[in-house]
Amino acid sequence: MAKYVGILTAGGDTPGLNAAIRGIGKTALGMGMNVIGFRDGFHGLLGDRTVRLDSDTLSGILTIGGTILGTSRDKPHKMPMGGKKLDMTDAMMDTYRKHNLDVLVCLGGGGTLKNAYRLMKKGMNIINLPKTIDNDVAMTDVTFGFDTALGIATEAIDRLHSTAHSHHRIIVVETMGHNTGWLALGAGLAGGADVILIPEIPYNVEIVAEAIKRRHRHGRGFSIVAASEGAMPQHIAGDLQIAQQALEKAKTKQARREAKSRLAEVEARRAHSTIHMSEQLENLTGLESRVTILGHVQRGGTPSAVDRLLTTQLGSACVSLIRDGQYGVMMAVRGQDTVPVPIEQVVGKRKIVPLDHPWVESARKLGTCLGDT
Ligand code: F6P
Repeated sequence: MAKYVGILTAGGDTPGLNAAIRGIGKTALGMGMNVIGFRDGFHGLLGDRTVRLDSDTLSGILTIGGTILGTSRDKPHKMPMGGKKLDMTDAMMDTYRKHNLDVLVCLGGGGTLKNAYRLMKKGMNIINLPKTIDNDVAMTDVTFGFDTALGIATEAIDRLHSTAHSHHRIIVVETMGHNTGWLALGAGLAGGADVILIPEIPYNVEIVAEAIKRRHRHGRGFSIVAASEGAMPQHIAGDLQIAQQALEKAKTKQARREAKSRLAEVEARRAHSTIHMSEQLENLTGLESRVTILGHVQRGGTPSAVDRLLTTQLGSACVSLIRDGQYGVMMAVRGQDTVPVPIEQVVGKRKIVPLDHPWVESARKLGTCLGDT
């Protein structure tokens, strides 16, 4: 019996999504399976908005950025409906059954895994392919999209060098990465940043300023600071920990409300820390400083060759699992191979930069300031 495969892309878009859709689709069609896509993540599954993924639709999309299916951050159990957020997992099950799907392949990161897991517990067969420019999905060496974003951020740092040099300025370049520092650390090292700030290593702005002044004394009139969007000074890291612990301990509704609002206040201070740090660096060093926030540029455009290879490999390997009826797994990357990992083992976990990671150690050996010593 021919199998029926559904695909959706959820969460922030990522270069390589179309290449992954193509990898799954072409392999599945080649094995006589039927493939449909759902538009805009879980929203399209709810509304039964589909795209037939035949060989014409799958042709010519390998190199195109974004996702031909569209995406959204909508959660099945909190769908925005008429001003409320409702649990629509049962209605999504109905769509799944209506199409006689054997499996729903979800292309997404940590949030998508949580959402897919809910549907899995309702009875859907799920396979997840790990996607995010943040590289923060647990139990996989790498996520697709990361390599492309790393290349874009590195090129930006390369380009910022010449203007920082010409104007004898500090340039603080903020990368994405959510609460992890993979992008800032990778691009900072690859682009030769003088200071690299990541959430895993809270910084002291005076230490950063001292490193810049030391460069100045040695005749280096400019400095590049690569900062992850989640990087924060040590005092905010302390406040964040206290606020998170208070939320965990809160027993009553009122206590939870208060703890949540305290946490939101700390998060807001954290969100402004790149710009605030740049101002502080001007004051502490007497040098001019500018901020460049790379933002969504890191998620746009053509996927790198590495991401095309990765998604093609993940996509085709995923169809072998479908052929064998192996569901409830994320297709992880291990070295040159792909391995299925049970979703319940990955869900809710996050891969942060270990403090003894070889990239951290290389940065320290090179004398790059990481803001802590
Ligand atoms: O998870 C990918 C990511 O690009 C993060 O790096 C970033 O924090 C977030 O998404 C931005 O999300 P949005 O595009 O919804 O603003």
